[in-house]
Amino acid sequence: MTSYLLRGVSVVGAEPADLLIRDGSIAAGPAEGAEVIDATGLVALPGLVDLHTHLREPGREDAETVETGSRAAALGGYTAVFAMANTSPVADTAGVVEQVWRLGREAGLVDVQPIGAVTVGLAGKQLAELGAMATSAAGVRIFSDDGHCVADPRLMRRALEYVKAFDGIIAQHAEEPRLTEGAQMHEGEVSTRLGLTGWPAVAEEAIIARDVLLAEHVGSRLHICHVSTAGSVEVLRQAKARGVRVTAEVTPHHLLLTDELAASYDPVFKVNPPLRTAADVRALREALVEGVIDIVATDHAPHAVEDKECEWAYARPGMVGLETALPVVLSVLGERWDLIAERMSRTPARIAGLTGHGTDLAVGDPANLTLVDPSARRVVDPSELASRSRNTPYAGTTLPGRIVATFLRGKPTVLDGKAVK
Ligand code: DOR
Ligand code: ZN
Repeated sequence: MTSYLLRGVSVVGAEPADLLIRDGSIAAGPAEGAEVIDATGLVALPGLVDLHTHLREPGREDAETVETGSRAAALGGYTAVFAMANTSPVADTAGVVEQVWRLGREAGLVDVQPIGAVTVGLAGKQLAELGAMATSAAGVRIFSDDGHCVADPRLMRRALEYVKAFDGIIAQHAEEPRLTEGAQMHEGEVSTRLGLTGWPAVAEEAIIARDVLLAEHVGSRLHICHVSTAGSVEVLRQAKARGVRVTAEVTPHHLLLTDELAASYDPVFKVNPPLRTAADVRALREALVEGVIDIVATDHAPHAVEDKECEWAYARPGMVGLETALPVVLSVLGERWDLIAERMSRTPARIAGLTGHGTDLAVGDPANLTLVDPSARRVVDPSELASRSRNTPYAGTTLPGRIVATFLRGKPTVLDGKAVK
């Protein structure tokens, strides 16, 4: 196995030093025989960890596969991704989660951890085989009906109770369905102007408020997917102050884009939850810095051309995000490397109980890391994405930062900004 010496690298923003990778781990001592990589001006981060990725396999391999999504993840600086359960068939059995897990191992580009569905077929009627998925080879610890809300409060309670036995997590897509029937975009001034049916902020906030109370009552762990409103931040702030075991994520797009973009009627900006107002964006940024929102997660949602390049009303919601997440976060937070490592690697790894990722890159730690050139600028070109889908909202946008290399247990998955396999 090749050893690598990263010469003059800044580890999470610290003074430049040499970093040796040997036998899959961060090592000390002589670097004889190591391949030298000139890392002057580059920053090393622990490999990024995404708790919310749609890989589309099985079922929609025309939009993404475990392999193409893994490659996109590696190119984005990720070493671990959690694959959402809304595949076809749904990942609601030990068989399907094991299939996804095995495909991830075969691709070998990032660690792919399947998320199991909470309810059978994501139908919200009957609990899925949570225990069988937990004890399967995939070792599922996070369950979500993402794409759908677990709207029935009794089912949500039962799910929270069930996973408590093994310290599992229910990750909720917070959307009260009765309040979003027919919704096309955020409900507000812009939706009124455009005459489109609105998705009100309260549809998200009401579910989060209910679920933090349920999680508190049961004493279980709850995670809130893609928080998008200022009001949600306030509900979370109060719950956390009371000691509720709740964590939350925000997507890069909700940190940067607003509902004004819907005026273009370009479905690339259609996403669920929808893009919100500039005031929401401000509140989300503050909450992320403060820690009321714990992590950034991509909600990478690849869609085939025919599902996306059509009329706004018929287009599927979602945007690809793995390859642009770090540049977007860099543009939002600036070069606050420790904060970025915390929100994109260490904390997601800790929430998921994922060992070997999100480390301090100390001697002996597995060499799961990414090298970033913060001085580079890149114009996003959809045709250059490794993802099988092209639905990026950043086409033509210049973003800071370039992923130069990514290592998974000491093996490069990306070198010179290109996927190794
Ligand atoms: O925009 C979204 N796309 N939101 C979701 O909740 C699901 C996702 C998807 O699967 O495409
Ligand atoms: Zn969702």
